[in-house]
Amino acid sequence: MEAKDVSSTVSEPAGLSAVTVVVCATCRDESGSDDHPRAGMELAADANAASGGKVRVTTVDCLGNCSRRLSAAILRDGCWNYVFGDLKPDSGSDLIEGAKLFAGSTDGRIPWRGRPESLKRGLVARIPPLPILKDMA
Ligand code: FES
Repeated sequence: MEAKDVSSTVSEPAGLSAVTVVVCATCRDESGSDDHPRAGMELAADANAASGGKVRVTTVDCLGNCSRRLSAAILRDGCWNYVFGDLKPDSGSDLIEGAKLFAGSTDGRIPWRGRPESLKRGLVARIPPLPILKDMA
């Protein structure tokens, strides 16, 4: 399959409510400690505090990115989905900044320009939305 440009389905900025930050709450810190709260939960709390209630922040148990430790995803309906790793417990404001950039996007992607460094260096994958995929000829 080949992904076509999402701009044919997303051309308008969305409100912040259209974007969700998903933080892995079970990621351990660099020591690998099983202590609670886990570093991932600290990141989730930091992101939630930074959101001021304006961006939905939620948690899951494992995003399958354990080798890059603190992990999170930023999602927007109909847009590309992003997974990040190598985050720190205090990277919450970076995730919220990324969510705000995403909400203002008119091409279905988080703009590179203005993206916090942690969301540049920490990019693990971007996954296209199903509606833009087309079958191989
Ligand atoms: S425990 Fe966080 S990605 Fe697996």
